[in-house]
Amino acid sequence: MASQYTTQLWTIPAFVDNSVDNLVNHPHIQAAAQLIQKQETVAFPTETVYGLGADACSNEAVHKIFQAKGRPQDNPLIVHIANQDMLAGLVDNFSDEAKQLMDRFWPGPLTLVLPKGNRVCSRVTAGLESVAVRMPAHPVALALIKAANTPIAAPSANRSGKPSPTRAEHVWRDLAGRIAAILDGGETKVGLESTVLDLTEDRPVLLRPGSITLEQLEEVLGPVRVEAELVADDNPVETDQSAFKPRSPGQKYRHYAPEGELCLVSLEKGLEPMRQAIKLALEKDRREGLKTAVLTTDDGAARYDADLVISLGPRQQLDQVASRLYEALHQVDQAGIAKIYAETFPENQVGKAIMNRLRKAAGGKVIIP
Ligand code: TXA
Ligand code: MG
Repeated sequence: MASQYTTQLWTIPAFVDNSVDNLVNHPHIQAAAQLIQKQETVAFPTETVYGLGADACSNEAVHKIFQAKGRPQDNPLIVHIANQDMLAGLVDNFSDEAKQLMDRFWPGPLTLVLPKGNRVCSRVTAGLESVAVRMPAHPVALALIKAANTPIAAPSANRSGKPSPTRAEHVWRDLAGRIAAILDGGETKVGLESTVLDLTEDRPVLLRPGSITLEQLEEVLGPVRVEAELVADDNPVETDQSAFKPRSPGQKYRHYAPEGELCLVSLEKGLEPMRQAIKLALEKDRREGLKTAVLTTDDGAARYDADLVISLGPRQQLDQVASRLYEALHQVDQAGIAKIYAETFPENQVGKAIMNRLRKAAGGKVIIP
């Protein structure tokens, strides 16, 4: 059982001077930092999604994250830092390539898996010899880490298995009463979790696609291996866990799932056949009296007759589609939708991350026209 809290909700208004140096002294940031120092949990915005933070050097504090989320203990957390000096003691040593990536993409949505240093507590890494680290590009996150004066471990601030939060309100719905405080810094920009890259092997391996794309990483590193998406990902219960050891433990759990049944519709035969297949499915659901939703793009929104039609933005602007995806999944949950159909996207650039999240949210359900 997670402890009961009277969760504090603190808003950092957009109009305050939000340079990190100024924010560090903001009373809400100071109050949140004190909670972190007292081994408590605080949710805060990053540029990707909201994180649920605790002192990365304290097993007691980190344990509270797992309890609040209902997260499996074998799924390690990402440690967030405010500057590269904080790497001392966190990571053991790292290559020139790692340094190049940090200089190029930090602060930003890139998480690097590196050999672990001795300051990281064992619960953060779930006993692994490696640690995942990133420097978020969000002034509230950076100010909080600075004010707390410790690296902050933070998974996405949602109940395990649910869509990640892109607004403080999403965190509130999932975690109010289970965590000490929430810092509201408005809507997150990127909307999908960071790219995770493993640098502990001879060759770099992409563990989770994100808005920093494979193509961008390869510009710096040359060829990057992509961790095969295992079929077992979506069905942990029926999997022999001992035989199934993905490099990134998080990858074996079902994720991002809305309450209703989400079904992807393949783009394989083109846009028209994809949309036609969704229309047919909607007609059938309507006859059965089911409440339906469609996730589409601007050019498709007028085409559907469903209880809820959500456009994720222009089809060509995948960054916008990415930034709106979780908000859409939260919306269908709020509307109590039984059947959700999602249009799909080509899997290059950010499309790779969008499709990765959609597939996990759908638990493998795909209609091929
Ligand atoms: O954008 C993000 O990364 C957000 C914000 C809050 O920073 N955080 C986030 O954390 O998405 P989480 O816990 O939801 O996802 C962390 C992923 C999991 O798939 C986990 O298994 C993997 O990173 N991971 C963490 N430590 C690892 C390690 N040492 N080796 C391999 N994978 C690791
Ligand atoms: Mg997560």
